Amino acid sequence: MGFAQLVLGSAHVLVGAEAAAKLNRLYVHERFTGRGIGKALLRRSEELAASNGAFTLWLTAWVGNHRVLGFYASRGYTDLGATMYVFQDEQFENRLLATPVRAPTET
Ligand SMILES: CC(C)(COP(=O)(O)OP(=O)(O)OC[C@H]1O[C@@H](n2cnc3c(N)ncnc32)[C@H](O)[C@@H]1OP(=O)(O)O)[C@@H](O)C(=O)NCCC(=O)NCCS
Repeated sequence: MGFAQLVLGSAHVLVGAEAAAKLNRLYVHERFTGRGIGKALLRRSEELAASNGAFTLWLTAWVGNHRVLGFYASRGYTDLGATMYVFQDEQFENRLLATPVRAPTET
C-alpha cells in the first residue's frame, strides 16, 4: 500500500554541511491515501534518519506536484530552494524540502 526509501549520509549543497539523510521516495498507493499512512511512513523515516546520525532529512519534489508540496508543508518541511533536472532535453524544476530530525545539541 505504500513505501519509503531512505538514503543515509546523503548531502546536498542546499542542506549545508551537517549530516543529512535523503528521503529518496515516499509513495502511498492512491487507494490508501488520506488514512495517515504517508504521515506514519514519514515519521518513521525521520526517526530512522535521526537514529543513524542525521540532523536533517531532505527530499526533492516536482514544483508542479501541489499535493506532495502541500503534504510536506503540512508536516513542517521548509523549502530550501530549487534544483533542476534534465529529461529528454527538457528542464524540470524540483523544490528541495527539509526538516530537522535531531537537535544539534543531542549526541
Ligand atoms: C503525498 C502522499 C505521500 C501523502 O500520503 P497520505 O497517506 O495520503 O497522507 P496522510 O493521510 O498520512 O496525511 C495527509 C496529511 O497531509 C495533509 N495534506 C495532504 N495534502 C495536502 C495539501 N495539498 N495541502 C496541505 N496539506 C495536505 C493532510 O491534511 C494530512 O494532514 P493532517 O492529518 O494533519 O490533516 C501520498 O499522497 C502519495 O504518495 N502521493 C503520490 C506521490 C507522488 O505523487 N509522487 C511523485 C514523486 S514526488
